[in-house]
Amino acid sequence: MKSPSKATSKTVITAALPYANGPLHIGFLLEAIQADIYARFLRSMQKDVLYICASDMHGTPIEINAKKAGMEPEKFVDKYWKEHQQDAASFLISFDNFHKTHSKENKELSEHFFTQLKKKGFIYVKNMDVIYCPKCERTLPDRYVRGTCPLCGIADQYGDVCEGCGSVLKGTDLLNPKCSLCGTTPHIKSSPHYFFKLSVFTGKLKKWINSKSADLQLEVKNWLKEWLDKGLEDWCISRDAPYFGFEIPESRKECGEVKYFYVWLDAPIGYISSTKNYCEKQSDKPGKQKICRWEDYWKKGSTHHFIGKDISYFHFLFWPAMLMAMDIPLPKLTVHGFITVNGQKMSKSRGTFFTAKEFHKLYGAEALRFYYASHLERRVLDVDLNFDEFAAVINNVLVGKLGNFCYRTLTFAEKNYSELLAPKPTENKALTKKVLSLSEKIKKNYLAQDYHAVVKNILLITDHGNAYFQKAEPWKSKDDLKTKQAVSWCANLARNLAILINPILPEFSEKVLGSLGEKDLAFADIHFRWKGKVKNVPFLVNKVEIVRKEIFPLRLTVGKILEVKDHPNADSLYLLKVDLGHLGKKQVVAGLKKHFHKEELENRKAVFVANMKPAKLRGEMSEAMILAADDSAHVSILEVQKLNPGDEVHFDGTENSHAEITFEEFIKLIITVQAGNVYHSGKKLISPLEEVKVHGLNDGARVR
Ligand code: MSP
Ligand code: ZN
Repeated sequence: MKSPSKATSKTVITAALPYANGPLHIGFLLEAIQADIYARFLRSMQKDVLYICASDMHGTPIEINAKKAGMEPEKFVDKYWKEHQQDAASFLISFDNFHKTHSKENKELSEHFFTQLKKKGFIYVKNMDVIYCPKCERTLPDRYVRGTCPLCGIADQYGDVCEGCGSVLKGTDLLNPKCSLCGTTPHIKSSPHYFFKLSVFTGKLKKWINSKSADLQLEVKNWLKEWLDKGLEDWCISRDAPYFGFEIPESRKECGEVKYFYVWLDAPIGYISSTKNYCEKQSDKPGKQKICRWEDYWKKGSTHHFIGKDISYFHFLFWPAMLMAMDIPLPKLTVHGFITVNGQKMSKSRGTFFTAKEFHKLYGAEALRFYYASHLERRVLDVDLNFDEFAAVINNVLVGKLGNFCYRTLTFAEKNYSELLAPKPTENKALTKKVLSLSEKIKKNYLAQDYHAVVKNILLITDHGNAYFQKAEPWKSKDDLKTKQAVSWCANLARNLAILINPILPEFSEKVLGSLGEKDLAFADIHFRWKGKVKNVPFLVNKVEIVRKEIFPLRLTVGKILEVKDHPNADSLYLLKVDLGHLGKKQVVAGLKKHFHKEELENRKAVFVANMKPAKLRGEMSEAMILAADDSAHVSILEVQKLNPGDEVHFDGTENSHAEITFEEFIKLIITVQAGNVYHSGKKLISPLEEVKVHGLNDGARVR
């Protein structure tokens, strides 16, 4: 790209920092692609743009999941940090930097923010009630307490929100609370914590949201009005040990014990530290780039965050208030809705969850980029990834229209002409004018982040092009000058389309331009004066074929056998009390008495079917089923070592259904043992942590 024209118009664009807690999925990609298209568009307008992201590495879930995986949190997050960068790159996300919140830059800047805010009187210490689990010896975040909703009375709800009535809760509100990690009843304790005086900023925030420069989306403005009218409470920015995060300076002295920054304090500061890290890396490369400082972007330039609707509160209240207090100009923001798949929430058990890797392998990057672009506007709308529509959009529109026009014109030109001419200004005048005016429209559409309109207008141009080529019938009179001129005009149109679509389809664009001997063109390069030879036209886009995910009907869940008793009315049956983790403790009737002593089962972890329709067996309730392999000589349960109660295992390439299943349906499934592994239809039973093995059984043993 040509060097930026105006050094003063520096812009930082960000996507929210994904948690380093699991693989990237197509939901985050909606945001990364939305922001990437904007960044690439501004670059093609020759602006000085940095597209910044990072891994969000702190907080309780990451700390707990690292422990479950048997890893140090530092190692655990670094693994995802690397993976996320590869996944983003595979979808052509043009991050200029992807740093981490667990970094020296972020530690320094978070401490700097904290000490400055404290010095300015915006931070104070106050005692507050926290929920403490004496068995786990930890303060529990609301998400990790389960109990009965005090408002609607539905049992087994998370402490932060009731799924029954939708009420926002605090963990301390729950009736009959239990620690979700160990099931112990926690107690409330008072603990000193740091608070940020958010309430002080109410007036300033009100002014901001009504200002023209904030340029808020209408939906967002309405939420903000509601929140501000309700009144803002001060914000607790510290957390108790154990926590994966940064220690708060002086906290031991001020609170009597070490406190950590709450993940949401240092996460948005991560936007700045990633910028800082970028600038420092540039300065290390002598002569390569101008030396920059993060302040050039954050204090003198402009910033633009792209976020999902779920994290609005943090980005429209906490973060701007902190920036105001630090005298840093406020960002612009674009909020998007959520991805649904075939009209349903993304969920593993419904087969509607796709990691970036899975999706890339099935359909490639540009298909998703094009589909998302055709659905995105700067509005808070959920985007449905409907696979029938996806196939139609890619095969009929992307391949059938845009791809087809560029491919047929360019291959025709390559085959028939050693050199094309620059079209005369008088040639095809009306259509040329139309294309140039549509290009101006498209520029405005990009600027307004109305990619839906961008795609619509690009397709309008394409349709004109296809109609023109069709009418010219160049294959009938290849050698006429008139024909050559028409083909030249079409090659110019393909070149312009490549520039117009470049922010959405960078590879497609590069391929078209490459065959014209061009590369890295800017928006300003749109014209009809190109001449030359068309060479080496590659395949531009491929059709997609939809692959449906397979759903396995059993919810295969790890349970720990807590207790084994004799069934009161049956000689061959046991009554097991089983801990199924977040699914709770269940009674299970099991026909294992002939094969196991009670002690051989107690305290073992094994695979259960958690979605069996509860049934009375000889007068006792059975709420789940234990799986056992049987080769008519021996019987073995499917024991696991590393997995925890509540974890699911699955047959490779399938997702477990959570819908209830009857015994009649269950018994039709054929699950067998081969060489110590468990198979269904040739697929092995696996989990992220370990393979499920059985020992001492002959091949062909049935599992039921
Ligand atoms: N770590 C925080 C963000 C900190 S920013 C200072 C976080 N991480 S996240 O991994 O949960 O989400 C990252 C982004 O992906 C968020 O903007 C979130 O809204 C977005 N999405 C996550 N799931 C999504 C969908 N199903 N659909 C669309 N976007 C979604 O929140
Ligand atoms: Zn506990």
